Amino acid sequence: MDQISESKIIGVATRRVDGPLKVSGAAMYASDHHFPGLLFAWPVCATIAKGSISSLDTAEAEKMTGVVAVYHRTNIGPLYRVPPASGFSLILDEKRPPLEDDEIRYYGQYVAVVVANTVEQARAAAESVKVTYNREKPDADSKLRGSPLTTEKPEEKSKRGDTAAALRSAKVKVDSIYTIPAETHNPIELHASVAVYDGQKFTLYETSQAVVNHRDVLAQMLGVPPEQVQVITRFLGSGFGGKLWPWPQSALAAACARNLRRPVKLVVSRQMMFQSVGHRPAIEQRIQLAADLDGRLTAIEQEYVNHTSMLDDYDEGCGEITPFIYSTPNLLVTGGLARRNVGNPTAMRGPGAVPGLFALESAMDELAVSLKMDPVQLRLKNEPEIDESLKIPFSSRHMKECLTTGAERFGWANRTAEVGSMKRDGLTLGWGVAACAWLAARTETEASVELKQDGTARVACGTQDIGGGTYTVLAQIVSHETGIPVGKIDVVLGDSALPSGPISGGSWVTASVTPAVLEAARNAGQRLLLTAVKSENSPFKGRKPGELEFVGGMVRLKGQAQSAVPMAEVLRIAKINSVAGTGKSAGTLGAAKPEFSFHSYGAQFAEVTWQPEIARLRVNRVVTVIDAGRIMNPRPARNQIEGAVVMGIGMALFEETMYDRRSGAPVNNNLADYVMAVNADTPQIDVAFLDYPDYKLNALGVRGVGEIGLAGIAAAITSAVYHATGIRVRDLPVRIEDLL
Ligand code: MOS
Repeated sequence: MDQISESKIIGVATRRVDGPLKVSGAAMYASDHHFPGLLFAWPVCATIAKGSISSLDTAEAEKMTGVVAVYHRTNIGPLYRVPPASGFSLILDEKRPPLEDDEIRYYGQYVAVVVANTVEQARAAAESVKVTYNREKPDADSKLRGSPLTTEKPEEKSKRGDTAAALRSAKVKVDSIYTIPAETHNPIELHASVAVYDGQKFTLYETSQAVVNHRDVLAQMLGVPPEQVQVITRFLGSGFGGKLWPWPQSALAAACARNLRRPVKLVVSRQMMFQSVGHRPAIEQRIQLAADLDGRLTAIEQEYVNHTSMLDDYDEGCGEITPFIYSTPNLLVTGGLARRNVGNPTAMRGPGAVPGLFALESAMDELAVSLKMDPVQLRLKNEPEIDESLKIPFSSRHMKECLTTGAERFGWANRTAEVGSMKRDGLTLGWGVAACAWLAARTETEASVELKQDGTARVACGTQDIGGGTYTVLAQIVSHETGIPVGKIDVVLGDSALPSGPISGGSWVTASVTPAVLEAARNAGQRLLLTAVKSENSPFKGRKPGELEFVGGMVRLKGQAQSAVPMAEVLRIAKINSVAGTGKSAGTLGAAKPEFSFHSYGAQFAEVTWQPEIARLRVNRVVTVIDAGRIMNPRPARNQIEGAVVMGIGMALFEETMYDRRSGAPVNNNLADYVMAVNADTPQIDVAFLDYPDYKLNALGVRGVGEIGLAGIAAAITSAVYHATGIRVRDLPVRIEDLL
């Protein structure tokens, strides 16, 4: 693989190129799109979680002012199921199209949709649709492992050696159960769909982390070829995984637009966000560790069960990281599903790894306590040489340095191990640590770059910027390759009509776009050199393209700075508006025989303060050290880690979707009652990047930073809580009652 080690722009703290658009309000989010004749749709949501519709009376709603139509199962028109997904094509979580039948499988399932001239009219009419139900008792048991209710037998996910034997003969053991409640993604931007249909083509303005997949899924659902669907997401008010795959409101809006031949906007309300656009499922995990007296692991066994919905099979994959994070001869990971009457769960930031590492890293802390060993030392002791599950080398792993650097920055050497032994200003301190990892990958990507007579460049890719800085990163890559300043590079993303780009998921956009964009820029440069030697009046006329180079935005004879002619001038002389090139790169995921184990690594150190007199717990300080390859742009990279740390505080201390056992309704379905960490909860956050380029992944050595910052945080915090209070909280979130 090529290695690009020197760059004036890669690795440089560059301002976000989309910043001015965002702060001035000019950035167009999905629900900002208005069209003449626009109508508003409001869904009618089931008020039971299990049963069926016995009658649906729309007469009153249809008579209300401004109402244009009320759609339900019998008049919505054809909406098809989607063929099974393969690779990254045709993915969606809730496989049943909306309004397909009269059976109710979760609270909030759409049973009808009202279309009206204003959103208020649509909402009022939706509330006037009379639905009666055959109500059954929902399956809402919060116990997952071993529940008699529809729990599917755990299946083997990863195995080596014989954990049962190792656990039997272990000198030291941990055997604990950890639970995580359902967590709901709450990006500030609500899910929204604005559908425009001209009788042939659908143009869908969507909140999507994957416009190309969204197009293909909606084309299937609507029964039209993909060329007749265009999905646009220019800006996203974040998604955290909740916007990766299409949700039912998108098909509903498109069907309404099709039926009425008018543009239709459907914005999912905050309440509905808790019902029908995914969540991280409730999860129970049992972790068993076996170790020698010197702290060397002899077995890891992880058994997890996550809830899923009645029709679909969402597997949280909690064993994602377990097989390769530590060295152990014996390992077993199993995972099972517990079907419940809930909306379909989906990926939430760091799916699998984040809940999995909460359990595993908590268990490691418990092991350290049992061994009376420093938890950093315990992890250093169990560092593997290779990926022992795949028996292949790591592409680039610096876990030890994450731990030792973090320990140094945190001041870990001053820690006294005894519970409650550390005090400051009348507060009890607790210190905790956790290791973390997240996959690194490239997925298949196409991109195009155009060099223009006005001196600017345009780079286009059918990926999207979900707030992480993708616009800026693409500008940096093109600037690096062409020498054109970032400010003169127009980045075009978020449109399924563009060359097919990666989903904004898995933290792999930057790694994926890098090779394709570099190649596209190089190919555009080659076309520019060809233009320079071919065009009349060109100073390079008659030369061979191989004698020239495109450097710093100029065409010149190789190595001869005085011969340089600006790109714009070359094109002006040739009377050509622009030259373009395309690039394409393959993915690393799903390789039959991967050569390297690609991951990012990190260490999380947390300090809590505990004030027993007033039962006040705060996360006071977090040090995070991340090994994510070369850091393309330290500013947005730091933002990603800081944001993830704050989200991790929410996971550890606050977040929990509460379902009413009787009705199956999420009851804390608003931003007042679903508590998330906010600015006032934010500790001092010290983020350090190790910055070892991973050239085995791509020429720039970049991996990705979107998710890893959330992994491990909750375990570092609960371990710190234990250190302060002596109470081991294994059921998130930590409640004050737990500590009294
Ligand atoms: Mo991320 S949960 O892959 O959007």
